[in-house]
Amino acid sequence: MNVLLDAETIHTRVRELAAEIERDYPEGEEIHLVCVLKGGFMFLADLVRAMSPRVSLDFIAVSSYGKGTKSSGEVRMLKDLDSGLQGRHIVIVEDIVDTGLTLIYLQEILRARSPKTLRTACLLSKPSRRQVDVEVEYIGFTIEDRFVVGYGLDYAEKYRNLSHIAVLTEG
Ligand code: IMP
Ligand code: MG
Repeated sequence: MNVLLDAETIHTRVRELAAEIERDYPEGEEIHLVCVLKGGFMFLADLVRAMSPRVSLDFIAVSSYGKGTKSSGEVRMLKDLDSGLQGRHIVIVEDIVDTGLTLIYLQEILRARSPKTLRTACLLSKPSRRQVDVEVEYIGFTIEDRFVVGYGLDYAEKYRNLSHIAVLTEG
């Protein structure tokens, strides 16, 4: 596997994103992060540690892929949030935006819960793969159309624990 983004590069960028998010919301107001499991867990963990105590968080799980490397386009809710979103500043925290189908679905169901604001943060974006026009306010890195693993991202549930992001190669 070839390293695409090393741990330090990721860390630096995540801290920048955390500062950017903090700046974008009025001082003292809560920012509620909604982490998309499982891929978003490491990004969330680094993001929140670079943010102030006004942050709160929750987790949601959806499935879009199955075991392969191609999106089925079908999204299912596996675990819903614990608390409501009404009147709150919500930031969806996701590992990667690929076709955009997962995020479009998530944004739609979360927007229906009447948050005060709804934005999205993705560590990675593969714009060449986009099938729908989805808005993502915070993007860590824009990458080429390669299947990547590590830092939360998996292939058949493996490699999520890597501190870096690598391009999955055969063998
Ligand atoms: P989308 O619905 O096609 O945008 O896919 C989003 C989801 O697919 C992400 O949350 C990831 O879980 C998964 N995914 C997309 N591309 C990759 C990749 O290169 N490596 C690992 N997972 C990926
Ligand atoms: Mg994901």
